[in-house]
Amino acid sequence: MKPTFQKYIPFKQINLPDRQWPNNVITKAPIWCSVDLRDGNQALIDPMNLEEKLEFFHALCDMGFKEIEIGFPSASETEYEICRELIEGGHIPDDVTIQVLVQAREHLIKKTFEAVRGAKNVIVHFYNSTSTLQRKVVFNTDMQGVIDIAVKGAELIRKLTDEYEGDTNFRFEYSPESFSGTEPDNAVVICEKVMETLGCTKENPIILNLPNTVEMCTANTYADQVEYFIRHLPNREAAIISIHPHNDRGCGVAATELALLAGAERVEGTLFGNGERTGNLDIVTVGLNMFTQGVDPQLDFSDLPKYKEIYERCTNMKIGERQPYIGELVFTAFSGSHQDAINKGTKYMRESNSDYWEVPYLPIDPADVGRQYEPIIRINSQSGKGGAAFVLNHYFGYDLPKKMHPEFGRLVQSECERLGRELVSKELFDLFEKNYLLHDRKYEIVGHPTITEDKNDENKLKIECIFRTNGDVPVDTKISGVGNGPIDAFFNAIKSIGIDCYEFISYSQHAISAGSDSKAVSYIELKKPDGSSIFGVGVSSNIYRSSIFGVINAINRAQD
Ligand code: KIV
Ligand code: ZN
Repeated sequence: MKPTFQKYIPFKQINLPDRQWPNNVITKAPIWCSVDLRDGNQALIDPMNLEEKLEFFHALCDMGFKEIEIGFPSASETEYEICRELIEGGHIPDDVTIQVLVQAREHLIKKTFEAVRGAKNVIVHFYNSTSTLQRKVVFNTDMQGVIDIAVKGAELIRKLTDEYEGDTNFRFEYSPESFSGTEPDNAVVICEKVMETLGCTKENPIILNLPNTVEMCTANTYADQVEYFIRHLPNREAAIISIHPHNDRGCGVAATELALLAGAERVEGTLFGNGERTGNLDIVTVGLNMFTQGVDPQLDFSDLPKYKEIYERCTNMKIGERQPYIGELVFTAFSGSHQDAINKGTKYMRESNSDYWEVPYLPIDPADVGRQYEPIIRINSQSGKGGAAFVLNHYFGYDLPKKMHPEFGRLVQSECERLGRELVSKELFDLFEKNYLLHDRKYEIVGHPTITEDKNDENKLKIECIFRTNGDVPVDTKISGVGNGPIDAFFNAIKSIGIDCYEFISYSQHAISAGSDSKAVSYIELKKPDGSSIFGVGVSSNIYRSSIFGVINAINRAQD
């Protein structure tokens, strides 16, 4: 028995040895046409109702689409009614053109013209299938038969447009459906005949849409087909070349990008790639791929989560966690080394004031699409202490000194082990707060310490405070000390009540904004009697007090 893969016929390559597209670069956005409300909608288990379609339509307008295929009005009463509501309800902005799809068949074309009466700008998009396979197994006709259908459709469209009374600005689009499964010369001939019939000119060009109706070949071959078509089409200036890739092989985005290199000027697709079978091309991905190359996509992706929400609600489809740019996890770093590199990249961006986005592992600034970077701190062989410090800094403003990272990393590690899972950023902060800011206090200062210049030496500070030792019965003692700075003075004060086994090692401080006012955060490192070191953190609106609180916190932690 033959192995099953042998029942498939390899795709026939196109002969284009002098192809130009591999040397080209995408430098500007194409004309975008959303087919969410037609191709996308027809592929839903429950197609959108009127309210959903209207909401989606407005979302597409907000995003910046100027051409929107709103449906197939001759296909059903519902589709017809939705088209009417869009027009009569005044939903269509003046600079947006609605597009309506219709097969090249007389009664359907007539009904379509009825459906769009009163609209300002309309693209009548007609199509018939031209592929070798469809001619053989579906229509049982030769190429001439298929050309006749397209030409008859074009004749009727021209006639109806001439007869049409009203202010509608009509444009035409023709799709040789299954273009990529059609012999390239046949695709050229049928489009040429349609153009002749409609009398297309440079001033009044047709949109020739080249669907990759079923993706059957590698993306480079589709690009070859597009380049071949463009190079062989007579009266080339009288046509705008559009592409309509599907995604059967998972290469819709690649096919689009290569077809743009090959000269396509217009792209039909959907948000997040909804559409027949594996979907239409995902316009969001192609647009943002351009964006990350410094090319303005001419669509507004700055609040992608909003569009995700509308999309999921209206279509009842779910966006996968790994979907480029919008998937739940695409701005999440799990690996410690990735977190560390992102951390360094973000620091570099902040310190260098660079105009360019240069952060490893993040091809786009999440903020540009209304999102944020979310490191998941996982304690396993790959987790890094830098990641935890990054979260505290990035989300909560605490810039831990580097020497403190291992200590906090150990706390994170044991918490993860205790819970048996990774921590999210809020839990990480809670852990920090519990250990450094709300730590159980054996020692505390009652009220505010007073800090003044020493009367005998203006270079010295004097501290006075009520020092409480908590126990079954709290004991309050008034202490005072003089030193070179607040830490030194405080150390001298507590020595007077016998706390003298800690040595000061290091100190750092920064400002943190808490609501409307700013506070000082101090990180104090002390040496314990056993020689190991321990950190304490103090926060106060007074810089001196913040260091003193940091010292007490370190001593309290050392008592554990
Ligand atoms: O995929 C396709 O070929 C289509 C056409 C109707 C344009 O959706
Ligand atoms: Zn399609």
